Amino acid sequence: MKPLETPEEIFRIAFGYMASKALFAGAHLRLFDALADGPRSLSELAATTGADERGLSTLLTALVSTGLLEKLDGAEEGFRNAPASQTMLVSGPDGSFADYCRDQVDRQMYPFLHNLHDVLRGRRDTVPFQDYASWFADADEASLYSESQHAASAPAAALLSALVDLSGCRRLLDVGGGSGAFSITLCRQHPELSATILDFPNVVEVGRRFVAEAELTDRVDFVAGNALEVAWPKEQDAVLFSYVSGSVSAEGVGELYRRAHRALRPGGQVLIHDFMVDDDRCGPPLPALWALQHFAFTPGGVALTPGFVTGLLDEAGFEKPEVGPFIPGMTRLARARKAAG
Ligand SMILES: C[S@@+](CC[C@H](N)C(=O)[O-])C[C@H]1O[C@@H](n2cnc3c(N)ncnc32)[C@H](O)[C@@H]1O
Repeated sequence: MKPLETPEEIFRIAFGYMASKALFAGAHLRLFDALADGPRSLSELAATTGADERGLSTLLTALVSTGLLEKLDGAEEGFRNAPASQTMLVSGPDGSFADYCRDQVDRQMYPFLHNLHDVLRGRRDTVPFQDYASWFADADEASLYSESQHAASAPAAALLSALVDLSGCRRLLDVGGGSGAFSITLCRQHPELSATILDFPNVVEVGRRFVAEAELTDRVDFVAGNALEVAWPKEQDAVLFSYVSGSVSAEGVGELYRRAHRALRPGGQVLIHDFMVDDDRCGPPLPALWALQHFAFTPGGVALTPGFVTGLLDEAGFEKPEVGPFIPGMTRLARARKAAG
């Protein structure tokens, strides 16, 4: 990243949270869904969202200024979704990214960051939950998080299923599998595949609901518990970690990969999808900022890098670990195999 030179560049960062909050407010008001079928006027949007016209007008100006909405000024009047908002923020069969922004990022993650400075000084008593285990002991929190995660993970699961050839795999262990977004997508693509989702008990309850809705209860089963403590099923063809390696301490990541090696049959593969910064730890910004956010509720957590992940895979006994791009500028995919024996 080029060092900043102007006050405007500092302003953009200092006040960046206001743009996030404008997006989140739009998500709470279901504004992007209200614009799904085409332009609407201010008064129509006020009636649909239940918002006061003056406040809504201020929000609409903010959203137009950030490029999330467009204002029409011609024969047609009113507001419409920008192309990216129409694609990502309007509800489809798996919900939308707006659901994820509203329920997980704004309702849950955002308040955690309130005392980030204290946490960085070692004062964890000022945050409500110490780690994922204590956080998801609360069933409502686990449900809010995991249901909205499903909407965000569905496109990533479709990307994984296009990138990775799992033909010939019969057993997949999806560690920290959450709602089952990845297991469901991969089982749909590979009729011979069965999956086990390992996650905390209250998350497993959410996963069971999604798997039942997908009519896959005969092919997806569950192990409820902390992945660092419970026994893992053996003789797996593939072990998947999606957005899990950044949710445990650095030592915990190594333990997860050793457990994956023991759970795999000879020749089986491990897949790790997560936020990773470059090996020089200078960026890109999105994975760097995600690691900082995670630190608020992940004691001992670090920003993952390709070198850190492949080093731990090596130590765990895997062969030829390699890392490639996944969601541009945000996540990467690491892959390795257990020796064929
Ligand atoms: C960001 S979510 C990702 C869910 C799913 N893998 C996906 O990509 O949609 C992280 C998941 O990891 C789970 N998790 C975190 N630490 C865990 C642990 N120690 N044991 C079991 N699950 C864990 C959380 O409960 C949560 O479901």
